[in-house]
Amino acid sequence: MNRRSVIGMLATGFVAFLFSPSVADATSAPVIRAGDTCKKLGRRTTDGSKTFECTKTGAGLQWKRVKATTTQPTTSEVKVLDSSALVAGRSATAIVTSGGRNFAVVLTRTAGGVVAFNRSCTHQGSLVNQSSVNELTCPSHGAVFNASTGAVIEGPAARALTQYPATERGGSIYVTI
Ligand code: FES
Repeated sequence: MNRRSVIGMLATGFVAFLFSPSVADATSAPVIRAGDTCKKLGRRTTDGSKTFECTKTGAGLQWKRVKATTTQPTTSEVKVLDSSALVAGRSATAIVTSGGRNFAVVLTRTAGGVVAFNRSCTHQGSLVNQSSVNELTCPSHGAVFNASTGAVIEGPAARALTQYPATERGGSIYVTI
C-alpha cells in the first residue's frame, strides 16, 4: 500500500465518520427531558411534540412537561368602508383581511347603527346577497336572512348568519374579526 492510497483511505473514513448515523442521531437526540436542570423559572420550550416549563422543585429548577397552550386566533379591527358607502336600509358587501385571511362580509345600516355579518350562508356556505330591503338571500337554495339581525327568515338554513362587531367613527366603518 503506497502513501497516496493510505491518505485516500483516511480521508474517506473521516468523511464517512462525519455523516455516520451515530453522529446524526447525536444531533437529533432530545435536548430536554423532564427533570433536567433549567435556569430560568417559567421559561417554556418545545422539543418535538413535547412542551416543557422550567419549574421550581425541591431539587431546584427543573424542566417539567406541561400541556402545550394553544394560541388563540387574534382578532383585529379593520376599516371596511367609508360611511358614505352605506346608505340607510341598504346592505353592502366587502372583503375584510384579518390575520392573513379574507372574510366575505355584508354590512347593513340600521336605525341602531351599522351591523356586519359573515356572508357565508349557514346552510352550505354560499355567499348571500341583498335581495330586497332588509333581506339577504342565498342563491344556492333560497334561504333568506334578516339583513339587520342575521336571523333566518326562510330555510333551508337553520342558523342565523355569524355576526361581527361593527363600529363607525370619523367617517369610516370598522369591523372586528
Ligand atoms: S347554501 Fe344557502 S341555502 Fe343552501
